[in-house]
Amino acid sequence: MSGATMWLTGLPSAGKSTLANALASRLRDEGRRVEVLDGDTVRGWLSADLGYSKRDRDANVLRIGNVAQLLARNDVIVLAAVVAPYAATRDAVRANHEAAGIEYLEVHVAAPVKVCIERDVKGLYARQRAGEISGLTGIDDPYEAPESPTIRVETHVISVAECVDNLYGVLAQRGSL
Ligand SMILES: Nc1ncnc2c1ncn2[C@@H]1O[C@H](COP(=O)(O)OP(=O)(O)O)[C@@H](O)[C@H]1O
Ligand SMILES: [Mg+2]
Repeated sequence: MSGATMWLTGLPSAGKSTLANALASRLRDEGRRVEVLDGDTVRGWLSADLGYSKRDRDANVLRIGNVAQLLARNDVIVLAAVVAPYAATRDAVRANHEAAGIEYLEVHVAAPVKVCIERDVKGLYARQRAGEISGLTGIDDPYEAPESPTIRVETHVISVAECVDNLYGVLAQRGSL
Protein backbone atom coordinates (compact mmCIF):
# COMPACT_ATOMS: atom_id res chain seq x y z
CA MET A 1 0.00 0.00 0.00
CA SER A 2 1.39 3.35 -1.02
CA GLY A 3 0.13 6.64 -2.31
CA ALA A 4 -0.30 7.45 -5.95
CA THR A 5 -1.64 10.15 -8.18
CA MET A 6 -4.07 9.07 -10.85
CA TRP A 7 -4.78 11.91 -13.25
CA LEU A 8 -7.97 11.70 -15.28
CA THR A 9 -7.66 13.91 -18.33
CA GLY A 10 -10.32 14.40 -20.98
CA LEU A 11 -12.80 16.75 -22.59
CA PRO A 12 -15.59 18.44 -20.64
CA SER A 13 -18.34 15.85 -20.07
CA ALA A 14 -16.06 12.94 -20.97
CA GLY A 15 -16.65 11.42 -17.51
CA LYS A 16 -13.67 12.48 -15.36
CA SER A 17 -15.62 13.55 -12.25
CA THR A 18 -18.04 10.65 -12.47
CA LEU A 19 -15.23 8.10 -12.60
CA ALA A 20 -13.07 9.81 -9.96
CA ASN A 21 -15.97 9.94 -7.50
CA ALA A 22 -17.09 6.38 -8.17
CA LEU A 23 -13.55 5.04 -7.81
CA ALA A 24 -13.04 7.13 -4.65
CA SER A 25 -16.14 5.59 -3.03
CA ARG A 26 -14.94 2.12 -3.82
CA LEU A 27 -11.48 2.78 -2.42
CA ARG A 28 -12.90 4.43 0.73
CA ASP A 29 -15.18 1.44 1.26
CA GLU A 30 -12.00 -0.61 1.35
CA GLY A 31 -10.49 1.66 3.95
CA ARG A 32 -8.10 3.57 1.69
CA ARG A 33 -7.42 7.24 2.15
CA VAL A 34 -8.47 9.04 -0.99
CA GLU A 35 -8.67 12.65 -2.10
CA VAL A 36 -10.43 13.80 -5.24
CA LEU A 37 -9.01 16.99 -6.72
CA ASP A 38 -11.69 18.06 -9.14
CA GLY A 39 -10.84 20.83 -11.56
CA ASP A 40 -14.12 22.61 -10.95
CA THR A 41 -13.78 22.58 -7.18
CA VAL A 42 -10.11 23.50 -7.18
CA ARG A 43 -10.84 26.60 -9.21
CA GLY A 44 -12.85 27.81 -6.22
CA TRP A 45 -9.81 27.93 -3.93
CA LEU A 46 -6.35 26.83 -5.07
CA SER A 47 -6.70 28.41 -8.50
CA ALA A 48 -9.35 31.03 -7.77
CA ASP A 49 -7.08 33.69 -9.25
CA LEU A 50 -6.66 31.87 -12.57
CA GLY A 51 -8.59 32.02 -15.82
CA TYR A 52 -8.50 29.92 -18.97
CA SER A 53 -5.54 31.23 -20.96
CA LYS A 54 -2.85 28.68 -21.76
CA ARG A 55 -0.65 30.22 -19.08
CA ASP A 56 -3.38 30.02 -16.45
CA ARG A 57 -4.46 26.52 -17.43
CA ASP A 58 -0.85 25.40 -17.12
CA ALA A 59 -0.47 27.08 -13.73
CA ASN A 60 -3.68 25.38 -12.56
CA VAL A 61 -2.43 21.96 -13.63
CA LEU A 62 1.00 22.43 -12.06
CA ARG A 63 -0.51 23.59 -8.76
CA ILE A 64 -2.85 20.63 -8.64
CA GLY A 65 0.11 18.39 -9.46
CA ASN A 66 2.05 19.80 -6.52
CA VAL A 67 -0.83 19.35 -4.08
CA ALA A 68 -1.35 15.82 -5.40
CA GLN A 69 2.29 15.04 -4.70
CA LEU A 70 2.06 16.24 -1.10
CA LEU A 71 -0.91 13.97 -0.51
CA ALA A 72 0.39 10.99 -2.44
CA ARG A 73 3.69 10.94 -0.58
CA ASN A 74 1.63 10.49 2.58
CA ASP A 75 -0.02 7.35 1.25
CA VAL A 76 -3.16 9.01 -0.05
CA ILE A 77 -4.55 7.95 -3.39
CA VAL A 78 -5.18 11.17 -5.26
CA LEU A 79 -7.66 11.23 -8.10
CA ALA A 80 -7.23 14.40 -10.14
CA ALA A 81 -10.24 14.95 -12.38
CA VAL A 82 -8.94 17.84 -14.42
CA VAL A 83 -9.08 18.53 -18.17
CA ALA A 84 -5.32 19.33 -18.37
CA PRO A 85 -5.40 19.99 -22.13
CA TYR A 86 -1.68 20.34 -22.81
CA ALA A 87 0.53 17.25 -23.13
CA ALA A 88 3.74 19.02 -22.13
CA THR A 89 2.17 20.26 -18.89
CA ARG A 90 0.83 16.82 -18.02
CA ASP A 91 4.29 15.42 -18.75
CA ALA A 92 5.82 17.98 -16.39
CA VAL A 93 3.50 16.82 -13.61
CA ARG A 94 4.44 13.23 -14.32
CA ALA A 95 8.17 14.11 -14.30
CA ASN A 96 7.82 15.91 -10.95
CA HIS A 97 6.18 12.84 -9.45
CA GLU A 98 8.78 10.50 -10.89
CA ALA A 99 11.64 12.67 -9.63
CA ALA A 100 10.13 12.39 -6.15
CA GLY A 101 9.60 8.65 -6.48
CA ILE A 102 5.80 8.94 -6.38
CA GLU A 103 3.60 6.69 -8.47
CA TYR A 104 1.84 8.55 -11.27
CA LEU A 105 -0.83 7.14 -13.53
CA GLU A 106 -2.42 8.88 -16.46
CA VAL A 107 -5.96 8.02 -17.49
CA HIS A 108 -7.35 9.25 -20.77
CA VAL A 109 -11.07 9.54 -20.19
CA ALA A 110 -12.04 9.36 -23.81
CA ALA A 111 -15.30 10.10 -25.56
CA PRO A 112 -15.81 11.68 -28.96
CA VAL A 113 -16.55 15.38 -28.80
CA LYS A 114 -19.94 14.65 -30.38
CA VAL A 115 -20.87 12.49 -27.38
CA CYS A 116 -19.57 15.11 -24.95
CA ILE A 117 -21.71 17.75 -26.66
CA GLU A 118 -24.76 15.51 -26.35
CA ARG A 119 -24.06 14.97 -22.62
CA ASP A 120 -23.15 18.61 -21.91
CA VAL A 121 -23.39 18.02 -18.17
CA LYS A 122 -22.63 21.61 -17.22
CA GLY A 123 -24.13 23.31 -20.26
CA LEU A 124 -20.73 24.58 -21.40
CA TYR A 125 -21.08 23.45 -24.99
CA ALA A 126 -24.45 25.17 -25.26
CA ARG A 127 -23.06 28.35 -23.77
CA GLN A 128 -20.15 28.31 -26.19
CA ARG A 129 -22.54 27.78 -29.09
CA ALA A 130 -24.65 30.70 -27.86
CA GLY A 131 -21.54 32.90 -27.79
CA GLU A 132 -21.71 33.33 -24.01
CA ILE A 133 -18.26 31.81 -23.46
CA SER A 134 -15.24 31.15 -25.64
CA GLY A 135 -12.08 29.12 -25.27
CA LEU A 136 -13.89 25.86 -24.54
CA THR A 137 -11.56 22.88 -24.64
CA GLY A 138 -12.25 20.65 -27.62
CA ILE A 139 -14.28 23.31 -29.46
CA ASP A 140 -12.34 26.54 -29.74
CA ASP A 141 -9.43 25.72 -27.45
CA PRO A 142 -6.93 22.87 -27.86
CA TYR A 143 -7.10 19.41 -26.34
CA GLU A 144 -3.97 17.36 -26.82
CA ALA A 145 -5.10 13.79 -26.19
CA PRO A 146 -2.50 11.60 -24.46
CA GLU A 147 -0.66 9.40 -26.95
CA SER A 148 0.40 6.77 -24.46
CA PRO A 149 -1.61 7.06 -21.25
CA THR A 150 -1.33 4.39 -18.58
CA ILE A 151 -4.87 3.47 -19.52
CA ARG A 152 -7.60 4.80 -21.77
CA VAL A 153 -11.25 4.29 -20.91
CA GLU A 154 -13.81 4.90 -23.61
CA THR A 155 -16.80 6.15 -21.72
CA HIS A 156 -19.10 6.06 -24.71
CA VAL A 157 -18.40 2.33 -25.09
CA ILE A 158 -18.23 0.88 -21.60
CA SER A 159 -20.25 1.55 -18.45
CA VAL A 160 -19.17 3.57 -15.42
CA ALA A 161 -18.83 0.33 -13.44
CA GLU A 162 -16.56 -1.24 -16.06
CA CYS A 163 -14.43 1.89 -16.30
CA VAL A 164 -14.03 1.94 -12.52
CA ASP A 165 -13.07 -1.74 -12.53
CA ASN A 166 -10.38 -1.02 -15.10
CA LEU A 167 -8.96 1.92 -13.16
CA TYR A 168 -9.04 -0.09 -9.94
CA GLY A 169 -7.19 -2.85 -11.76
CA VAL A 170 -4.40 -0.50 -12.79
CA LEU A 171 -3.93 0.71 -9.20
CA ALA A 172 -3.81 -2.88 -8.01
CA GLN A 173 -1.33 -3.84 -10.73
CA ARG A 174 0.96 -0.95 -9.73
CA GLY A 175 0.96 -2.05 -6.11
CA SER A 176 -0.91 1.01 -4.86
CA LEU A 177 -3.71 -0.95 -3.14
N1 LIG B 1 -18.60 5.06 -18.78
C1 LIG B 1 -18.86 6.28 -18.29
N2 LIG B 1 -17.96 6.90 -17.51
C2 LIG B 1 -18.19 8.15 -17.04
N3 LIG B 1 -19.30 8.88 -17.28
C3 LIG B 1 -20.25 8.30 -18.06
C4 LIG B 1 -20.05 7.00 -18.60
N4 LIG B 1 -21.14 6.69 -19.36
C5 LIG B 1 -21.95 7.76 -19.27
N5 LIG B 1 -21.44 8.73 -18.48
C6 LIG B 1 -22.09 10.01 -18.17
O1 LIG B 1 -21.32 11.07 -18.74
C7 LIG B 1 -21.39 12.22 -17.92
C8 LIG B 1 -19.97 12.63 -17.57
O2 LIG B 1 -20.00 13.81 -16.79
P1 LIG B 1 -18.80 14.27 -15.86
O3 LIG B 1 -18.28 13.12 -15.09
O4 LIG B 1 -19.28 15.45 -15.07
O5 LIG B 1 -17.72 14.73 -16.95
P2 LIG B 1 -16.38 15.59 -16.76
O6 LIG B 1 -16.05 15.61 -15.30
O7 LIG B 1 -15.37 14.88 -17.59
O8 LIG B 1 -16.70 16.94 -17.31
C9 LIG B 1 -22.22 11.87 -16.71
O9 LIG B 1 -23.54 12.29 -16.90
C10 LIG B 1 -22.12 10.34 -16.69
O10 LIG B 1 -23.24 9.74 -16.07
MG1 LIG C 1 -15.83 17.28 -14.03
